[in-house]
Formats: sequence, structure tokens, C-alpha cells
Amino acid sequence: MAEHGDERARAEIDGTALVVLAGDLTAQDVDAVVNAANEQLAHGGGVAAALARAGGPEVQRESDAWLDRHGPLGPGDAAVTTAGAMPAQMIVHVVGPRYRDQQDNEGLLRQAVRAALDAAREHGASSVALPAISTGVFGYPAQEAAPVIAQTCAAWLGEEPGTVREIRLVALDAGGADLFVGGLPEG
Ligand code: APR
Repeated sequence: MAEHGDERARAEIDGTALVVLAGDLTAQDVDAVVNAANEQLAHGGGVAAALARAGGPEVQRESDAWLDRHGPLGPGDAAVTTAGAMPAQMIVHVVGPRYRDQQDNEGLLRQAVRAALDAAREHGASSVALPAISTGVFGYPAQEAAPVIAQTCAAWLGEEPGTVREIRLVALDAGGADLFVGGLPEG
């Protein structure tokens, strides 16, 4: 497991695994990695830049082509591109909320996570890895966002049994990863 990260916690939900890892999202050997993108799919910073760098130039190229066809990526939407040179087969791009006082940050974050998981399933992914969407450039406090992301994945797995067999929640360090644990189901 060393190359993928350190497992910090795990829950089993209807025969599927929800795993919390400290590690690098770009190194995950899953079918789909989720990108914390912006509406323009301009992968300039954070995890987006890491995915674009690790995947190679076709990641930004396919993202630009998606944008030309569909226009800006809205809340609740997902764009799927190649993962290029990464072990994953595809990147599912979603836009999390920019953290603001006068909006339903939690609802928007849940919507982004669900959009990512729905799109991964629709594209035949049986394993998916997600980062702590919105907790970097978009300013959502990680101690609030990470449990919401974990809870949303657990709820989705309970509602959508079958196709997806593993979801990994990945943060760069143990402190970040452990913030997901509060959102795992008990037991
Ligand atoms: N593996 C796992 N997690 C990572 C990695 C990585 N390689 N790189 C960064 N992260 C973590 C960050 O530590 C942060 O907790 O991903 C989380 C999300 O941070 P951002 O990438 O800044 O995402 P977000 O807050 O949703 O902002 C999106 O940032 O880079 C731009 O194009 C992106 O404009 C968009 C905005």
C-alpha cells in the first residue's frame, strides 16, 4: 500500500469499501479520480494542477475540448476526461463551492460529490478516489468539509448498491485524512 498512501480508516457499506488514505490522489490505482475543478476546467493550481501534471498534456487538451462543446461546468455537473499517464482510467471533474457566508455551502458540496459519483458510475468505474473538494483555493474549512464529503459518499453507497465497489477519500497528510473519519458510519 505504500505507493498509494497510508490507510487511516475504513468502513464497509453493503459490501463496498469506503477507505480514508493519506497519500497522493494522482498515484491512486482506481478507475476514476475526482478533480476539484473550476468552471473553466483551467487546471492552474491545487489538486487540479497536480492531476494535469501527472496525467500529461492531454488532460488539459480534453478539458478544453469539453468546454468548447458544453460550456462552463456548472454546480451539479461533471465532466469526464482521460487520466492520461496516471494509473486511473479517467478524471471526473466537478466544481465545489467557494466558501461563502450567504449560501448553502454544505448542500453545494454534497451536490458536487454526488455529481462525481454518479458520473463515475455512468462511465463504468468500480473504484473512485476523491480529494477534499473545496478545502484549498476555495476556502471551505477542511474540518467542516471533509466529514460532509465522507457522509455523502457513505449515503450514496447505501442508495446505489452494486457498480462502485470502492471509494477512497485521499488527503496529502494524515492530519487532513483524519478529518474525513468523522463522516464515516459507525461500526
Ligand atoms: N492529493 C490529494 N489531495 C491533494 C493533492 C494531491 N495530490 N493536491 C492538493 N490536494 C488537496 C489540498 O490539500 C486541498 O485540501 O486537495 C484539496 C482541495 O484543494 P484545491 O485543489 O485548492 O481545490 P478547491 O479548494 O476545490 O479549489 C478549486 O483550485 O486549483 C484550482 O483549478 C482549481 O480553481 C480551482 C480551485
